[in-house]
Amino acid sequence: MTRHFLALHDFTRQELDAMLALAADLKQKQKNGVEHHLLKGKTLAMIFEKASTRTRISFEVGIYQLGGHGLFISSANSQMGRGEPIKDSARVMARYCDGVMIRTFGQEIVDEFARYSDVPVINGLTDLFHPCQIMADLQTVIEQKGGYQGLKFAWVGDGNNMANTWIEAAAIFGFDLALACPQGYEPDRHVWEWAQKQGTATISITEDPEEAVRDADVINTDVWASMGQESEQKQREFAFQGYCVNDELLAAARPDSIVLHCLPAHRGEEISESVIEGKHSVVWDEAENRLHIQKAIMATLMK
Ligand code: CP
Ligand code: NVA
Repeated sequence: MTRHFLALHDFTRQELDAMLALAADLKQKQKNGVEHHLLKGKTLAMIFEKASTRTRISFEVGIYQLGGHGLFISSANSQMGRGEPIKDSARVMARYCDGVMIRTFGQEIVDEFARYSDVPVINGLTDLFHPCQIMADLQTVIEQKGGYQGLKFAWVGDGNNMANTWIEAAAIFGFDLALACPQGYEPDRHVWEWAQKQGTATISITEDPEEAVRDADVINTDVWASMGQESEQKQREFAFQGYCVNDELLAAARPDSIVLHCLPAHRGEEISESVIEGKHSVVWDEAENRLHIQKAIMATLMK
């Protein structure tokens, strides 16, 4: 059966732990110049309906390092951008390629693509989820803290695709997560209810960033206006006042806390210059780990 990587809830904690372990192994191999052509001769199509720096580069470099080849497909320059049905594109691409990565808007688009695809489909970000990013974040947490169990995770900002994926992660991996989101910018209700129903983690929400961050080990934030919400920038700047991860807010966290940001960052909005450049920040390792964890995801699904 073809397995897709559309959301974390499609996998068990054991399966995701195995991908994290493989990512650590592949990272070592890459650093030591040990060949690891697990996907020799395989091809990954990478469809982008939104902009990207990290996702595009890390997938393209990653498939190459695994001995395969990546193709960049912009929806604007393909027939998908001219209205060719998703289900037709999916069946055609599966005849050429061994895997497909998609970055798009609605989660239903990747779901439909996967339904018609005979090859694995990987979610490279939708409005609802960003599962590859949270896996890279967890790899970074494991490197920095030796594991994720028993840690307190905090989310400060928009209840967006990143926040939704953290909620799934907390429920699957069983760690506590405190979110601070302004009223009207809460995470997805279905994701929230699903996570609470698992009964595996304490997941709370408040409008007070300091309460969420208090004694946290891992603090995570993201832009106030995600891709596709550019027209709401001004209104969101107003709504998110007080939601900047700055030195003052960080003082409430544990002294050895780490700060994550998926990037791109807006300094002076969701994060201060001093925090992103400061000693708690692990954002560059986090960005690097996109490469390693995605290699592990591709190797697991496409081999
Ligand atoms: N974090 C992330 O997904 O970055 P890009 O938008 O640059 O791919
Ligand atoms: N929430 C952001 C993440 C970018 C990687 C967005 O969707 O634009």
